Order: sequence, then C-alpha cells, then structure tokens
Amino acid sequence: MTRKTVRIAMNGVTGRMGHHQHLVRSILAIRRQGGLDLGDGTVLWPEPVLVGRRAHALDALARQYDLEHRSTDLDTVLADPAVEIYFDAQVTSAREEALRKAIAAGKHVYTEKPTATGLAGALELARLAQEKGIRHGVVQDKLFLPGLLKLKRLVDGGFFGRILSVRGEFGYWVFEGDWQPAQRPSWNYRAEDGGGIVVDMFPHWEYVLHELIGRVRSVQALATTHVPQRWDERGKPYAVTADDAAYGIFELEGGAIAQINSSWAVRVGRDELVEFQVDGTEGSAVAGLRGCRVQHRSATPKPVWNPDLPATEAFREQWQEVPDNTEFDNGFKAQWELFLRHVYADAPYHWDLLAGARGVQLAELGLRSSAEGRRIDVPEIAL
Ligand SMILES: NC(=O)c1ccc[n+]([C@@H]2O[C@H](COP(=O)([O-])OP(=O)(O)OC[C@H]3O[C@@H](n4cnc5c(N)ncnc54)[C@H](O)[C@@H]3O)[C@@H](O)[C@H]2O)c1
Repeated sequence: MTRKTVRIAMNGVTGRMGHHQHLVRSILAIRRQGGLDLGDGTVLWPEPVLVGRRAHALDALARQYDLEHRSTDLDTVLADPAVEIYFDAQVTSAREEALRKAIAAGKHVYTEKPTATGLAGALELARLAQEKGIRHGVVQDKLFLPGLLKLKRLVDGGFFGRILSVRGEFGYWVFEGDWQPAQRPSWNYRAEDGGGIVVDMFPHWEYVLHELIGRVRSVQALATTHVPQRWDERGKPYAVTADDAAYGIFELEGGAIAQINSSWAVRVGRDELVEFQVDGTEGSAVAGLRGCRVQHRSATPKPVWNPDLPATEAFREQWQEVPDNTEFDNGFKAQWELFLRHVYADAPYHWDLLAGARGVQLAELGLRSSAEGRRIDVPEIAL
C-alpha cells in the first residue's frame, strides 16, 4: 500500500459546518478509519490546512485535533503547490471570491452551498473551473442521508408507480437570542450578509427534487419574515432583513407537484426536522433524515369524512418502516469520499459547480417569484 498525503486547505473551518461536519465528521473521520483506500494499492491521507481570519481560533482547533498546518493568509496557502484541494465553508457572502482565487491557482475545489450569491456568479465559477480543467464539487449532503437514500431506493425500485406529489416540511424554532441564545448564526437573518432561508434551503430542495423525482420546471414562492427582531452573538438586538420562512410550490419534470414549507419560526410537530411525503399511484412514503416509512396501495385504509365522530383509525400506525439493509455513513463524509475518488481515481461525479449553480438559480427565482407574486419558469442552465 502506498500512502498519498493530500493537503486540503479548509477555509471557514471554525464555523458550524466547517468544524463539525467537514473537519471532524468527514476529514478526521477518514483519518480515523486509516485513510481512504482507492482500491489500486493507494491510500489517501487527507492533511487539512486550517484557514481562517482569526489566528487564535485556528490555533485552538489545531491544538484540539493535533493538526500541524494553519494560516490566516489564503493567498499564501493557495500559492503553495503542496496544497491540491481548496474547500470552502465560509459565510456565503465570502465564498465566490475565495473560490475564484482557488480556481485561478489551479486547485481542485470542493465547497458548501450556495456556491455564490447570484446565478451569474455561480455560472461563472462553473465556467472558470471548466476552462482551468480542475475537478470541482458542491456539498449536496441531503442526498446521502439514510432517510433520503431509502426514498431513492423506493423510487429506483418502482414502488410509487406514477409519482403525483411531494410535500416537504422543514423547520424548527430558532430562538431569537434574547432570553435563550439563538442556535443559528446571526448573519443567517441579514440579507446583506448572504442570509435568508430561501438562499439557504432552496439549493437543497433543487437537488433533492431533481435527483429523486424530476428537475424543477417552475417555482412559486412566498418568502416572509415572521420574526423581525433578533439578538446577535453578543446579545445586541438587530433588525432581521432576510426571510425566515418560505412557502414554495415547484412543478417537476414528469408532472409531479412538490410543495415545501421551510421555516425557522415553526415548532416541530413531526418526527424529524425535515420530512418529505411522496404520494404515487401505487404507494406513498414519508422520509425524514434517517427514517422512511411506506404505505402500499394494497394496505391503504378507506377513511370516510365524519367530524362528528372521533377518528376510528390510528393512521400513523398503518405505515411500515423501510429497513436499513445496509450501514449508512455520515452523509458529508460519504460525499467527501466520492469527491476524493473523483479527483484521485477518476471516479464519476456529477455534484459539481454546474449542479451548484442550479441551486442558486432556484433560490434566485424563488425570491423573484415572491417579490413579483407570480409563478416563474426555471429554464435549464448549461455552460
Ligand atoms: N450543507 C448544509 O446542510 C449546510 C448547513 C448549514 C450551512 N451551510 C452552509 O455553510 C456555510 C457556513 O455556514 P455556518 O452555519 O457554518 O456558518 P458559521 O457562521 O457557523 O461559520 C462561518 C465561517 O465563515 C467564517 N467567515 C469568513 N468570513 C466571514 C465574515 N465576513 N463574517 C463572518 N464569518 C466569516 C467564520 O469565521 C466561520 O468559520 C454557509 O454558506 C451555509 O450556507 C450548509
């Protein structure tokens, strides 16, 4: 076995996603399993280079995980030929510029979503990456969650017959920050800092719907701000300038209609923080992050509307849990491994900057639909 060390510049690694999902649950988890076996006698050994604005925060992370490399100077890191991959989990508004620099420096890039703050910028990144001939990937973690993998298995196995509709409920109560600290960063609630639930969540809905059911052909959305004042990380009140809830209807290729509610101002009355119900002519499924339950047409009850009597059936109990039948790894790690195989073993990979641009496009058109109060077509994009 030859061990190949791969140096990965990880920018924004002190943040929620960068730290927990990408550094600890992905890159360090790959090291804990002994590296990534490419199957050709090579084992990849990811070596993170922690990049950020605050030296003391990087020092603390490096100490905590016993890591050697860190820098507050992105340009110097990108000029280092030993660094082969640039990864970005910074705040959204800082992403585009950093990705442009990394592409110009000839690094392979892997990035959180959304890839840019507008479609033009997102497409330009995809074009630049193609021209430079580098490999590129965008996080589409929801596809690798156990619940959605089971849903995909059902779709691929023909369980649903003709898929008619998708109902998605996403959200939870994000504390305002006055009497209990908020569990999301304050920039999420400032449009000028790249915040807003449409920009945050519509990129996820685009690839979930596209890959599981069909490409989104049109969008009609109503985005709103339910909670107009919040308190930031230092306890200072600020005005919320971004949407914190969005109610969207999406027409999909193939004819199915999806309706997804996204909200940071809703209390959870579900089993999971996100749930999708898919109804088809032959059966239905409800998938969450981990679980997925089904009801086949042969086992469908026949309720009769009668509000004068209490419900006679326990509807929730009439569903059957889909078994795991396999071991599911962390979704972020699973996608990192696929990306590394793409770069170093030429494995196919389609979750790239063009796919990322589709997510940015849906967010942009969703916001436009809301502002103009009308349904908007979503044209197919290409380079
Ligand atoms: N894939 C997912 O499920 C998922 C979930 C949440 C967030 N995200 C994405 O990940 C990115 C980071 O989100 P997060 O929730 O980890 O945010 P966060 O605020 O916790 O972290 C942001 C990181 O960016 C750095 N940063 C760089 N420039 C900054 C600036 N000008 N102001 C403030 N911080 C700056 C911070 O130091 C920090 O390391 C966002 O683009 C977001 O859309 C993805």
